[in-house]
Amino acid sequence: METKMFTAKDLQDAADLIRQGELVAFPTETVYGLGADALNETAVKQVYAVKGRPSDNPLIVHVENFDMVKKYVSNFPKVTQKLVDTFWPGPLTLIFTVKPETFSKTVTGGLKTVAFRMPNNQQTINLIKQAQTPLVGPSANTSGKPSPTTAQHVFHDLQGKIAGILDDGATQIGVESTVLDLTATDGIPIILRPGAITKEALEQVIGEVKVDQHLLSEKEVPKAPGMKYKHYAPDVPVWIIDGDKTIFKQAIAQAKKNNKRIGLFADEDIAKHFSNEVDEVFSFGEKSVENATKLLFAGLRSLDEKPIDLIFVQAFPERELGIAYMNRLKKAANQNIFKNNSIFE
Ligand code: TXA
Ligand code: MG
Repeated sequence: METKMFTAKDLQDAADLIRQGELVAFPTETVYGLGADALNETAVKQVYAVKGRPSDNPLIVHVENFDMVKKYVSNFPKVTQKLVDTFWPGPLTLIFTVKPETFSKTVTGGLKTVAFRMPNNQQTINLIKQAQTPLVGPSANTSGKPSPTTAQHVFHDLQGKIAGILDDGATQIGVESTVLDLTATDGIPIILRPGAITKEALEQVIGEVKVDQHLLSEKEVPKAPGMKYKHYAPDVPVWIIDGDKTIFKQAIAQAKKNNKRIGLFADEDIAKHFSNEVDEVFSFGEKSVENATKLLFAGLRSLDEKPIDLIFVQAFPERELGIAYMNRLKKAANQNIFKNNSIFE
């Protein structure tokens, strides 16, 4: 199959393909999604097949506005309107109990709930409008690989397997949406996956919010099925470097002693400082967790293509957006953290 590249002027073609049950990747403010008609079971099955995604991992349903959700949910928790008014369109996915027999098991993974999100991207909103159906949209990467933040990343992973990709340039945020479960029996919303909408931001609007235990202790089983899989991982091992230039220097020295070729993902200051000592550098620019988050997946993908043996990635404090950044980074690094004197085998 030829994978067509679409831009805004081709929206109708992209929407027609969706209506015909084909797969079209779409841009959002977080990462690119792999779009298919959420009400077409054959199309949704194809989404799992091309991604190589485990079938117990439910999908997010993308809508053009909140009214579209009302067709599938009969009772909304009290906090819903405030959340929607404040954060939609945006990087917040909301989980509701759905009416029976609305979506197939392929979408829900057999759960009674469904995750909904209104992405903040006008082209994708128009695509949903023109296709006249909600779209499932897992991140448009091969399962286990870093999520795509450009149309080229999608093409790299899925060319020949999907009908098209709607290109709207690089995404703005760089990590997937915050997933908030509104179906807990005690009525207190729970964050199942951290994203750009932080716990603090949510609490300012709706009061108490909990965090899934799994995100605090790796021993707990995650409530979002997708969070249990190894994710976002390049083929090359990733090490988190938690510290200043002294720690980077130690890590680089150790790796060199073990004849490891090094790729470095860091701010421009650190990248410049060590550029002659490492083999490949990807700088995310001025030091900020926003910049690091925006380019994390692009950086991992780019370094993964280079002839290196490991990737060193700069850590950030685990607060605000740093929580989402470190959550993805720890998964990519499989918990490898260099503090001092770690050994590379
Ligand atoms: O930013 C995003 O959310 C991107 C863009 C494309 O919208 N999409 C995305 O989808 O990240 P995906 O499929 O890669 O991740 C969906 C996450 C998974 O961890 C999944 O287990 C969880 O949401 N999830 C979906 N439905 C759920 C449900 N009913 N209950 C609990 N977790 C759910
Ligand atoms: Mg994903």
